[in-house]
Amino acid sequence: MEVDIKKIDAILEEHGLEKRWLIPSLLAIQNTYNYLPPEAMQRVSERMQVPMIQVYQVASFYKAFSMEPRGKHIVTVCMGTACHVRGAERLVDQVGRVIGIKPGETSTDYQFTLETVNCLGTCALGPVMVVDGKYYGNMNASKVDRVLNRYMKREGEAHG
Ligand code: FES
Repeated sequence: MEVDIKKIDAILEEHGLEKRWLIPSLLAIQNTYNYLPPEAMQRVSERMQVPMIQVYQVASFYKAFSMEPRGKHIVTVCMGTACHVRGAERLVDQVGRVIGIKPGETSTDYQFTLETVNCLGTCALGPVMVVDGKYYGNMNASKVDRVLNRYMKREGEAHG
């Protein structure tokens, strides 16, 4: 994903260049790109006159930030024991078939990232999949299709 330095400058100027606006500025960049591109972090460091190591420390300290490219939609499949015995593996396979990504990967259009976790605390609803914080329980392959289609459609609608 290409980083538009003018866009970064606009974000920085909008928030203010004093050091106290570092976190809000990084959050705005994260919201724009779904992660903190290295070129953007470099620009933040230059424009705010904050050493790069400090920008990096803030970016790695807060969970809200990612320094790896991430999709607009985060798909999480639970692979904990309760979900595993009810077919969680099939959900991961189905996400792979629909979007073409494996756990830990992001689609080439940066729309989806697939993650797995060991328990989401809703074992009774297993197997469980979460998309952008919304829980989907008792999942199976065809439900995965339906849920993912909804998020793909929203993209299509968003672009007219
Ligand atoms: S094992 Fe999946 S929610 Fe607990």
